[in-house]
Amino acid sequence: MSGRIEANGLEDVVAATTRLSDVDGEQGRLVLAGHAVEDIAGRLPFEDAMFLLFRGVLPTLAERASLREALGEAREAAFDRLGDLGDALALPDAMDALRAAVAHLGVRPGEEPPAEAARIVAAVAVFVAAWSRGQAPVRPDARLPHAADYLRMVAGREATPASVAALDAYLVTVIDHGMNASTFTARVVASTASDTVSAVVAAIGALKGKLHGGAPGPVLDMLDAIGEPEGARAWVSAALARGERIMGMGHRVYRVRDPRAFVLERAIADLEAASDGTSPIGRRLRLARAVEKEAETQLAARHPDRPLKANVEFYTAVLLEAVGLPRTLFTPTFASSRAAGWCAHVEEQRRHGRLIRPKSRYTNAAPAAG
Ligand code: COA
Repeated sequence: MSGRIEANGLEDVVAATTRLSDVDGEQGRLVLAGHAVEDIAGRLPFEDAMFLLFRGVLPTLAERASLREALGEAREAAFDRLGDLGDALALPDAMDALRAAVAHLGVRPGEEPPAEAARIVAAVAVFVAAWSRGQAPVRPDARLPHAADYLRMVAGREATPASVAALDAYLVTVIDHGMNASTFTARVVASTASDTVSAVVAAIGALKGKLHGGAPGPVLDMLDAIGEPEGARAWVSAALARGERIMGMGHRVYRVRDPRAFVLERAIADLEAASDGTSPIGRRLRLARAVEKEAETQLAARHPDRPLKANVEFYTAVLLEAVGLPRTLFTPTFASSRAAGWCAHVEEQRRHGRLIRPKSRYTNAAPAAG
């Protein structure tokens, strides 16, 4: 019994009620505050999805502009404080650096939740970009949309509109996703009446693991190792024979293909269509599709009772590479959007939640009698 509980990983346990998102693992549907993910991702900018999480409705153009301005100002404020972060951004791993940098953010009692979220989300983007630039961080441009400025701060030059659109599609797609491990982590911290920054720091730690947000870098490593679509079969079969997991495949909740994989695939195809035909995106996409097909077939043969299909991370790798981000920034870029989801869950937990405190089952010896 005790072993079963440990191995069960709280599967199917309802740990919160939420208005933020709904994951239907059987049908392969993701709803963000009343909107199917495919209806808003690729059609609306990140700011709109963030507004939706906090206000429950999509913003008017004026409301979008106002959140955009707040994020821009918060990016500048975060940049001005880079010097106060000690050696946090010198840590060699980007997620370690992000965790350490976010831990430096101040706690402001009484700050309104949307303003606090904007401050944290903006800081995450600035810290990640600054980490990637080392000694030469790029000052934010507060007038730019959040996604455009993020790409600019990383690359040191203005991004193309097509790249910004693709990144926006990604950021909207991953902004929230039910009771995933990092969101649950944030909720546990919030449930103790701790502060939002602490909840986000803890969530970053949970997201880092390769079973959660750490998969897209290894997905790209896999695509590199396979090289050509013809190599997929042998590579996948050798990896499975070694007992390895195929990164970007399988999901705790989805029993069909992750709906976010479709949305990201569409965004990659749009990006390819906007390119001049010389970009390597199309080749990458064809390779990814071949590997996915092969992995799905071989996993189905090995696990006939457990559908293991592509998850969000599979095409995340292809999309983030296509917009010019290095693979070290894949998981931190995920965090830069999911931070908005974490903050929204923290607020919800504070308003409606109760201390999260489950029980454990003791399996060791009782004290010796006498
Ligand atoms: N490749 C190979 N085998 C896999 C697999 C994968 N990607 N995902 C699951 N399996 C196998 C497990 O080894 C297990 O086999 P077993 O019963 O013979 O031991 C079986 O499928 C069930 O897996 P389980 O670990 O119970 O699933 P889970 O719900 O705990 O895990 C993931 C879900 C996402 C952690 C898992 O599918 C995985 O590790 N995927 C790769 C990492 C990844 O892409 N993470 C991003 C998630 S969005």
